[in-house]
Parts: sequence; structure tokens; C-alpha cells
Amino acid sequence: MSSTRRVVVARRVFPALIDALKQRYEVVDNQSDADLTPEQLTRMLADADGALISGRERIDAALLAGCPRLQVVSNIAVGYNNIDVDACTAAGVAATNTPDVLNEATADHAWALLLAAARRVGESERFLRAGRWKRWEFEMLMGAELHGTTLGIIGMGRIGRAIARRGLGFDMRIVYHNRTRLPAAQENGALWMDAEGVLRTADHVILVVPYSPSTHHLIGAPQLALMKPGAVLVNIARGGVVDDAALIDALRSGRLAAAGLDVFENEPQLNPGFLDLENVVLTPHIASSTRATRNAMARLAIDNMDSVLAGRRPAALLNPPVWETAARAARVTPR
Ligand code: 8YV
Repeated sequence: MSSTRRVVVARRVFPALIDALKQRYEVVDNQSDADLTPEQLTRMLADADGALISGRERIDAALLAGCPRLQVVSNIAVGYNNIDVDACTAAGVAATNTPDVLNEATADHAWALLLAAARRVGESERFLRAGRWKRWEFEMLMGAELHGTTLGIIGMGRIGRAIARRGLGFDMRIVYHNRTRLPAAQENGALWMDAEGVLRTADHVILVVPYSPSTHHLIGAPQLALMKPGAVLVNIARGGVVDDAALIDALRSGRLAAAGLDVFENEPQLNPGFLDLENVVLTPHIASSTRATRNAMARLAIDNMDSVLAGRRPAALLNPPVWETAARAARVTPR
């Protein structure tokens, strides 16, 4: 039966992986990096049994209502704020994501941003490229100290812990906030605090929380005001966790030394205020973007989708209750 299943690849993925999919399914391969409108996505998925999507495709009740055969939406991302998981459960659709495989690459990128922002790497490079380096100066482009300082991590999941491990190599003290305090073995010496405590205590703060209504503008003007003068803020979580306008004010006034940002409100549009600032390092949502990691993410997403379509519980199921529902069973219909 699986040979007649139809799967949609909503966004461009490595062609070699899609060629392998074509051995098992009828594949509708969008082969495009362009964002789809909800109507385009609904049309594309209308007759699909499975869908491979990125974090840019929104899955909600309205879309699911137009896709009666759909059994699985497989997100090629660990963050899944693009998916209304409850709506999937109600509709009998399994939702999956790609945890773990991107922990290390994403933690590396958080550090790339922290190092670059603290040590003014982007600004220094712009200075050189503009031909402005005329003489060596004792106080030239002095940065913020990293080694031996206190690193704050808000969101101590798997990626947060990978970031913390790297901090130990920089002789940093780690303080963190997580909704639930970790067992001591996982804390690895890090100290739990409430979020305000982290903001007040840390010399530098990295944000790794999932985006939801409860984390919208988690860091706004009042929270930025709690941070130490001269601190560096890094956001690799999601746009919307930080109030970008408030951050721009804090960077412009020099209250914060610098920021390193991989995610933005309304990305790929940027608040133009960032572009005039020297003390911010900007990357276009690429924290997981290494060939090996993207490959692992796509493979896990395909594996999740294969499992559901074969009637097996997938490795990374976001809505376990769906597994027992009659609504799910009703979607498993032969072509
Ligand atoms: C993705 C991410 O590249 O996994 C996530 O949550 O933010 C990134 O790794 C992005 O969501 C596009 O799918």
C-alpha cells in the first residue's frame, strides 16, 4: 500500500534525500525556498498522506480541514510553534519534529554569536574593509570579557545544556532558568534561578526557550533594564521572544554592550534599527545550518514520516495522545 502513498515536500530539501523518497512514495516536491501562502499550502497538501515541512509552514485547524488524508506533518525543525499541535491531535494527524540532532551545531552557533558580539568581530571587520585601520591603538575596539564571567542561559533544554558545557571550557560560572529545575546530574554545576535572577546575575545571557504566547516578549524593556550594564544578549530561540524595538533602544543607549541575534520578529524582515547599530551581530536564522546537521534533521524528519505512514509510532511524536484516537485511524484510508 505504501507505494501509492503521496507525500509532499513543502520546501527544498537535499535532492538526494528526495530521490530516495521517490522509491517509496509518489512525491510532490516543491523544490522551492519561497514561503507558501496558507492557501497554496492547503492546495499542495489537499491529497497528501504525509508532509515534510519546515518551521516556516503553518499547520492549523483550517489547513487540516482541507487535507482529509493527511496522517503526518513532519517538521524539519525542533521548534514547532508553526504547528497547532492540539488541532493536529483533534484532527487525528501525527505531528513530529527533529530534536537532538541539531543540539551541537546550534550550541556552536550560539557561541559564535556570543564571541563575535562580545569581541566586536563584525564591527572590526567592517572597520578593516572600510580602510579605516591607519594605526594600532592601545584602546582600539575593546570588547567584553568572556572567560571567567557568569553566563546566563534561559531555557535549559538539550541545546541550553550543550551551550552550558562549552561555557565550562571558558571557565564560566553558569546560571540558568528553566520552568522546571534540572536533576543535579544534568545541571553539571549550573545554578538554577528565576528568570529575573538570571538577568540580574549573569554577565551575558543566551536565550534558548521555545516560542509560545507565554514567552512572547519574555525579554522587553523591563527585563533589559535588569541586565548588567555592559552585558551581551544572544537570541537563538525564536523571533518574538525578544521585543526587538526595546533591544534596539538598549543597544543604542549602550546599556547593553552588544547582542548576537539569529532570529527576529517578522523575519526575514528586520527592524531597520538593527542595521544602523555597530554593536549587534546578525545572522539569518542559520544556527542549525551545517551540512551534516541539516542532513541529520531531514533524515530524522523522513524517518518520522515513514514510521507514521507504516503504522509505527515515530521517534519524535509531538502529540502522543493522537496515537490512540479514532480520528487517526479514520485517516488511514487506501487509495
Ligand atoms: C530550522 C530551527 O532551521 O529547528 C529549529 O527549530 O529554528 C531551525 O533549526 C528552522 O526552524 C527552519 O525549519
